[in-house]
Amino acid sequence: MKQVLASGTLFMLSVLLSFNCTKLPDQPDLNAIKLNLPLEPFEYNILRTSAGNKYLRYEDSSIIDNNKATIGRILFYDKALSINNSISCSSCHSQENAFADAVPFSKGFEGVSTLRNSMHITNLFDSRKAGYFWDGRESRIEEMVFAPIANHIEMGFGQIEFIPEKIGNLPYYRSLFMTCYGDAQVTEKRMRECLGQFLYSIVSENSKFDKSLQNPLVKLSEEERWGLSVFERNCMSCHAITDDNEFSLWRDTITYANIGLDVNDADKGRNGLYKIPSLRNVSKTAPYMHDGRFKTLPEVLNHYRSGIKANPNLSEHFGGKQGPWQLYMSDHEVDFLLAFLKTLDDDEVTKDPKFSSPF
Ligand code: HEC
Ligand code: HEC
Repeated sequence: MKQVLASGTLFMLSVLLSFNCTKLPDQPDLNAIKLNLPLEPFEYNILRTSAGNKYLRYEDSSIIDNNKATIGRILFYDKALSINNSISCSSCHSQENAFADAVPFSKGFEGVSTLRNSMHITNLFDSRKAGYFWDGRESRIEEMVFAPIANHIEMGFGQIEFIPEKIGNLPYYRSLFMTCYGDAQVTEKRMRECLGQFLYSIVSENSKFDKSLQNPLVKLSEEERWGLSVFERNCMSCHAITDDNEFSLWRDTITYANIGLDVNDADKGRNGLYKIPSLRNVSKTAPYMHDGRFKTLPEVLNHYRSGIKANPNLSEHFGGKQGPWQLYMSDHEVDFLLAFLKTLDDDEVTKDPKFSSPF
């Protein structure tokens, strides 16, 4: 899609509105900020797959609004959302890592580490019933999106009522809010909605595995197919693959479990259980688990083969109170499984410019 630099127009606009910038020492020069936006908004509401195009939906099942998602994209990458303009959502959720972070614990606005491993953000539509965060404590996306902004480790805005005012003073949002809402007013409700719409538009459904289901010409290799059967036997009852969702051929059913990482969990999660992460793009979302303890997939598989510990909340799959039972997988099966897990990578979502930084 044709890209233009909207900065000139925005600069003009800000001059016209005679924007008065009182510059704090750590504030970037707002008029120097160049947003790289397409002339027509990107299509956040359409997913192109080898089975055809389909509309993407928001939490309430309405079709995603391209203009609102555009504002959401800017907010997602805007460091102004942190109290000292030091980090944005993308600092801990980077596109190349399928919107996860490459470190066990991310650094917040004051360089303090988060208590849990950052989660990847794709296909949030699917986890709307399970809830968001490792303990699923938030069940609606518009409630969830301000949690990191207010968090004292993450973005540090103790009082969120100041955020709309701060964002409303940034010249580059004005014409966009005007287009979406008919006036340039930035409110908390509108910000929540735009961020939510952008997050919901991040859908990954173009992995090799998806394509093998959508298109008879795309076939998994023999190794990958063996890996799929190892996966079906050992992993799929939790990291499920279902086809019962009207919007998709392939969806993860996400619930909660305890996989015996420790005898006593330091982090209690959700009554000793943790959200079962989707394995989409899993090769890009290292390190793994709620505390980022495993650096590689072979380390994760070693855990399931020999590292599972007794735990009062251990899943029945691993023996529950009678456990721990380890999963039996031969070295060959592990190699096939690793080959299969690679087929869950979707390079489109990690490279698509519509999800990239506009700054
Ligand atoms: C300092 C790092 C950091 C920043 C900044 C940050 N996040 Fe997160 N994010 C995390 C961590 C850590 C978790 C897991 C937290 C937990 O489970 O308690 C998480 C979880 C999430 C989830 C839950 C995903 C799921 O599948 O349940 C979403 C959605 C999310 N963040 C969106 C955002 C948005 C939107 C912003 C910006 C407004 C943001 N994050 C800013 C670190 C960060
Ligand atoms: C009983 C349910 C269950 C089974 C069976 C299971 N997992 Fe998991 N898996 C989980 C849960 C829960 C987590 C998160 C645990 C945590 O962080 O405390 C997880 C985490 C992971 C992660 C880390 C993902 C991330 O983003 O951090 C990978 C990779 C993984 N599992 C792969 C597998 C594979 C491969 C198999 C089969 C060999 C398997 N799992 C079997 C429940 C299960």
